Amino acid sequence: MNFDPLLDALADPGWIAVPGFLPADLARSVAAECAVRWGEGEFQRAGVGRGAALAIREDIRRDHVLWLDRLNAGRAQTTWLDTIEDLRVVMNRGLYLGLNEYEGHFAIYPAGGFYKAHLDRHENTQSRIITAILYLNDGWQPGDGGELKIWTTPGDKDGAFELIEPRLGTLVLFRAGDFWHEVLPANKTRMSITGWFRV
Ligand code: OGA
Ligand code: MN
Repeated sequence: MNFDPLLDALADPGWIAVPGFLPADLARSVAAECAVRWGEGEFQRAGVGRGAALAIREDIRRDHVLWLDRLNAGRAQTTWLDTIEDLRVVMNRGLYLGLNEYEGHFAIYPAGGFYKAHLDRHENTQSRIITAILYLNDGWQPGDGGELKIWTTPGDKDGAFELIEPRLGTLVLFRAGDFWHEVLPANKTRMSITGWFRV
């Protein structure tokens, strides 16, 4: 896989959306593994904040998450984690980011789910450097909602923005501390893997 365009974009402007990053058959297998774990009741409501301040805030976000874990990962998830690991190494070489970890979770937004505008860096820690989101929704149509709205000027949440449809196999990368973003209300179940490269 050639990651050069991703590195160039992360250097400037700091974000990129790549439709078809993951081949459709592999992305479908990842989605199927996600659906099985959901069916087994393994997801938890996502919270806001961290540590003792972690709280369920239905006014802010309405997704359910399951953290990825190599030991419990199916074949497709393992392939995804291997791809992410390759990307981590290449980003360190090309951008000198010193990333030493990845943490990622499946996210499911039931119909009506959203996540209000936010940055991905927690207030008290600066450890999340790059956000990576992989969308898992086969046959997503305009009108299904659930677009990622990303404001394209670092630090800004009022000006220019782009809307990215959460289509099967699309990857989005951005500098976690720089870009305000939000998930618009989804009109049907929306699946993804969201993760962070950390220091
Ligand atoms: C997040 C997030 C965006 C998306 O989980 O922090 O912003 O498009 N997700 O799923
Ligand atoms: Mn986010």
